[in-house]
Amino acid sequence: MAHRIQKPPRHWRKEIDFVLISQEQIARRVNALAREIEKDFAGRDLVIVALLNGTVMFLSDLLRRLSLPLRLDFIGVSSYGGGTESSELTFTKELRLDVSGRDVLLVDDILDTGKTLSQVMVKLRKLRPRRMKICVLLDKPSRRVESVSADYVGFEIPNHFVVGYGLDYAERYRNLPFVGVLHPQMYKNPDFIPLLSAKKRQLLIGPKAAMAQIAQPPPTQATWLAPTL
Ligand code: IMP
Ligand code: MG
Repeated sequence: MAHRIQKPPRHWRKEIDFVLISQEQIARRVNALAREIEKDFAGRDLVIVALLNGTVMFLSDLLRRLSLPLRLDFIGVSSYGGGTESSELTFTKELRLDVSGRDVLLVDDILDTGKTLSQVMVKLRKLRPRRMKICVLLDKPSRRVESVSADYVGFEIPNHFVVGYGLDYAERYRNLPFVGVLHPQMYKNPDFIPLLSAKKRQLLIGPKAAMAQIAQPPPTQATWLAPTL
């Protein structure tokens, strides 16, 4: 879809280059996704499995628009692997609900290379759900490495690093009510780079620079509390 350039609110302008998807656009699309999901899962034993932490806003908006019976559980994932391209996933929270024989809707914030969702799917398939569908707020098809596609996509977007509406940069900006493109000066900031996950370092500064950054000492608490923006 075509995106109109919109300015972020004044107080975010130093950090956010432009608004890619507004609050209003998100609300309309989430509503439409909920209608589709309700139709497809009517009468089913639905378990929604959401990935932590990026789904927080999308999930809560989607859930309150779904009026069919469902259960909810979370899986925690984090990437590691020291900035190499083959970053593996660690599971920081395991699924608690029994999904065997049930319909699973896996929810994530963004489908990028597809490495995260393909590994999560391998894990979930072993639990023998009746069927598994994927729902993501954002899809960056140009970045795909694994052959994974989502059944429900909020917005297909170009290859920008986006933040807001749950998505973060060094754990910041999850609270923006819109999806914005991070200002390039933000990811050159040496105070933030050491705070990024291996996955985001690769995304923003490339694998070589990511390796160099990992060799740096970790940031002090003072750096974290008072970063120079
Ligand atoms: P994948 O494994 O490459 O598909 O990456 C998926 C994960 O990478 C998402 O769940 C996000 O946590 C993160 N990610 C990918 N692209 C972005 C972005 O543009 N902004 C913030 N996080 C992103
Ligand atoms: Mg994520």
